[in-house]
Amino acid sequence: MQENTAQKEPRAWWKEAVIYQIYPRSFMDANGDGIGDLAGITSRLPYLRELGVDVLWLSPIYASPNDDNGYDISDYRAIMEDFGTMADFDALLAAAHRMGLKIVMDLVVNHTSDEHPWFIESRRAKESPYRDYYIWRPGKAGKEPNNWESCFSGSAWQYDAATDEYYLHLFSKKQPDLNWENPKVRDEVYDLMKFWCDKGIDGFRMDVISMISKDQRFPDGPVKPDGYGDFSPYCVSGPRVHEFLQEMNRRVLSHYDLLTVGEAAGVTIEEAKKYARSDGKELGMVFQFEHVGEGNGKGSIIEKWTTGKPEMPKVRAILNKWQRELAGCAWNSLYLDNHDQPRCVSMFGNDSPKWRVRSAKMLATCLHMQKGTPYIYQGEELGMTNTRFHSLADCRDLEEINAWHQYVDEQKRVSPETMLACFNNVARDNARTPMQWDASENAGFTTGTPWLAVNPNYREINAAAETGDPDSVYAYYKKLIALRHTHEIIVYGTFEPLLEDDPAIYAYARHLDGQTLLVACNWTDHEVPCTLFSDRGEGEELISNVKTEKERTLAPYEARAVLYGKAEA
Ligand code: NOJ
Repeated sequence: MQENTAQKEPRAWWKEAVIYQIYPRSFMDANGDGIGDLAGITSRLPYLRELGVDVLWLSPIYASPNDDNGYDISDYRAIMEDFGTMADFDALLAAAHRMGLKIVMDLVVNHTSDEHPWFIESRRAKESPYRDYYIWRPGKAGKEPNNWESCFSGSAWQYDAATDEYYLHLFSKKQPDLNWENPKVRDEVYDLMKFWCDKGIDGFRMDVISMISKDQRFPDGPVKPDGYGDFSPYCVSGPRVHEFLQEMNRRVLSHYDLLTVGEAAGVTIEEAKKYARSDGKELGMVFQFEHVGEGNGKGSIIEKWTTGKPEMPKVRAILNKWQRELAGCAWNSLYLDNHDQPRCVSMFGNDSPKWRVRSAKMLATCLHMQKGTPYIYQGEELGMTNTRFHSLADCRDLEEINAWHQYVDEQKRVSPETMLACFNNVARDNARTPMQWDASENAGFTTGTPWLAVNPNYREINAAAETGDPDSVYAYYKKLIALRHTHEIIVYGTFEPLLEDDPAIYAYARHLDGQTLLVACNWTDHEVPCTLFSDRGEGEELISNVKTEKERTLAPYEARAVLYGKAEA
């Protein structure tokens, strides 16, 4: 085992922070309309302060017709009516800052809503000064300009009869892609970013930022099993993406002290090193997707629609690879859950009543002791689980609805039963059910009718029950967060993978200034031999999720982190 202290990482506040993601629609409803809002978030700040997180990332709160729950913006300088007013935002920001909590905004600038004034003007006429704000192309032989499939099913091109051309939408047809080749578009984006920075926000999470630069030849993509083409070779980390981000950095980011994280689906490690370069010329870090996509294709219908689960050795290989490769040259973001993923305890752990609590704590240990900035998604700290969908009528997400229409209704590739089984496994609405605050009706989320049904398990799994219970998942997260704040080795220590061939245990060591932190997590529901700790001798146990540990084994879903050695002065 290495005991060395590698070259010290440059410090930054956002490397030492723990981020909490809020999906405002589902977090807390203060006015009883069934939809979460900003006043609701403000009312729950004490809960977040008590948990100990440092930063709140708000999924989009801007004016939006809500085709994709706010990821389709019609005014970047206004607040969505469902969520409140700009005065509510200012009050939230001020209250958060008073409590020492920072606020990170979601920046959605790969596309706008088709109801944004720029698009309304753009589609009016080919001569419109806004025409080139978006990507318009004539059809080819009466068909779409190329074979690209949108992320939300169907062609990525929408025909518009007014001007007899197609516009590009990598997501829904109500989310036309902005044309980043146009310098005026970039000026507009930088201006709106400055608007929020000047209000005093603390950073940006950048939605699908890896897709803003498209190959201007717009060639057909490799054909997928459903007959459409894959746009990713021509849009993911496209030709000018780094040039654009460096410009954004020069014009905006470098003038403020911000946390920046780019959502970078499909990003390779080589590309990630450029986005998240440690010289600070682009972004602070990226979200890579490899580990959350590990289950794709297993027992699969098509791509993400699967009943399969990820395998720990493969997840470990992916995460260890990112740890190794980014060491010393870029910073990792650490996450298992977000608003686009199924609940991690259901996906990576075991959500049965017997193992839910322990496996949720195990996953948290495994992630939070790694090197990088950890992200907690609302309810993850309670061990919230996937829900159950009994029919399409239970779903709200356009990704689910469109996929159903394409694969079940039109192509008849899948039976409704199989598609529901896939939804119960991977649908995004699993993460979007309302936050479970207490055991009262609608989990204390709303006094009205929730926009998406509450998970029926809220009577057992809720914040009120967990905040008072020292053995809860909540209490465990609180401890993990506090450990990161008090032990530098967890933030800056080098990462050394251990037992890389073990079928059950995910283990690693962290090293800093003569100290070693050993972490071992059993990802299975049976006891397994483990001599890592007994071989090492006496140490200081920082955290464990099992009361009576055995010296040479790990119990089902046991996780343990033990610190050895004294820090050098
Ligand atoms: C990624 C976001 O996380 C997701 O929720 C959204 O649907 C797409 N980008 C499109 O904005």
